[in-house]
Amino acid sequence: MRKYRIRGGNRISGVLRVGGGKNAALPILAATLLAEGESIIHNCPDIADIRFSVEILRHLGCRVNFEENTLNVNATNITNAKLPTDLVCKMRSSILFMGALLGRCREVEIASPGGCQIGARPIDLHISGFQKMGVSITENGDLMHAKSPSLTGAWIYLRDVSVGATENLLLAAVLAEGETVLVNAAREPEIVDLAKFLISMGANIRGAGTSTLKIMGVKRLQAATHRIMPDRIVTGTYLLAAAMTRGDLTLTHVNPYDISAVTAQLRTMGCQITEHPAQIRLHAPHRLTAIPHLITEAHPGFPTDMQAPFVAALATAKGTSVVEERIFEARAAHATELNRMGARIILAADNRVFVIKGREKLYGTSVNSHDLRGGAAMVLAALAAEGETIVHDPGYIARGYDDIAGALCAVGGDVGEVNLS
Ligand code: UD1
Repeated sequence: MRKYRIRGGNRISGVLRVGGGKNAALPILAATLLAEGESIIHNCPDIADIRFSVEILRHLGCRVNFEENTLNVNATNITNAKLPTDLVCKMRSSILFMGALLGRCREVEIASPGGCQIGARPIDLHISGFQKMGVSITENGDLMHAKSPSLTGAWIYLRDVSVGATENLLLAAVLAEGETVLVNAAREPEIVDLAKFLISMGANIRGAGTSTLKIMGVKRLQAATHRIMPDRIVTGTYLLAAAMTRGDLTLTHVNPYDISAVTAQLRTMGCQITEHPAQIRLHAPHRLTAIPHLITEAHPGFPTDMQAPFVAALATAKGTSVVEERIFEARAAHATELNRMGARIILAADNRVFVIKGREKLYGTSVNSHDLRGGAAMVLAALAAEGETIVHDPGYIARGYDDIAGALCAVGGDVGEVNLS
């Protein structure tokens, strides 16, 4: 079982290159199924969730090559519309293959998807949207069978803003008959990146990045080449590593505009930030200061995926912070782990509100990762803590961070990976 051994206290300073975004790459890999021929995807992060997706694509009949962050996917022969249950259960975003297979094959069989345990994470919005497009869905135990001989465009109002439902419906709509309108769509930059790829395949999409998406279905798409956008959450995580250790870090190959909600909060905490078109520098001259009230929201609000890393940072800040999780109802397990390192975090309102009394010091101990971003939060806390921390990780962190230990060591961190039972 993988563990990270981190000796805290070193400043995180220097220059790091940020890779492509997991949450952009996953729907784009599903989108490669929509056309015959070979799509080429550059800047693909080499992380566990991408490896799972590659296995799913191969299982469906694609020829896939993944080398040096470039993926070649030849989806000419789709031989199977049944998604492998073991892989689907490992990764919630495998639900996105549902929209892509409905678009390409008009049929799909899929088990209930898994993923990090951060709440109920239902898929009702995906299902009701597909049904509006004429898809009939039958359930047999944990397996869903969805079929639509005539996939048709529809006017779909999404009750809640959902990144996954917006992407899934978009993937089906590009090859449906007629027009689909998605109202109250998510506006995340990853959706814009997916739309860019689909448009380069020949799709007709208007409004990506706004809350109304209009998609006119086309008969056929062709394979295309695309470069994945930078990872916003990895960018934010490494900025926090510097912020918490009074470091001075420059990140390259990033898009500062996409993480404005995060940098605004880092400035509130006392960090000096300089932005260039594809570069961002953070200098933290003093101990961080508290944030009176931080709320997670859909884009362009503050991202829920940065909540746990910020809670870790605020645990070391001067003053009392309040952080409110409004997207997922069970994203709080990191609070208990941080408290074991000496943090003073009280959970309120069904574990959705964190009241954090910042402490000058946290202390190294043995802590657990309960989910991907919660695990990253523990690594950050350990970098700032006194002494040695062992972060136990049943495979979460590697799902979203490409060699986090190597990256942090390159900028002054003392992070080792150990395999202990
Ligand atoms: C995506 C991201 C994840 C991020 C999340 C919110 C990927 C691969 N993952 O997850 O990192 O934390 O967006 O920014 O891109 N909901 C429903 N019914 C549905 C679908 C969602 O009620 O059918 C609810 C969810 O329970 C949650 C909220 O909507 O409370 C937002 O979830 P959603 O945006 O769908 O998250 P994901 O797409 O799973």
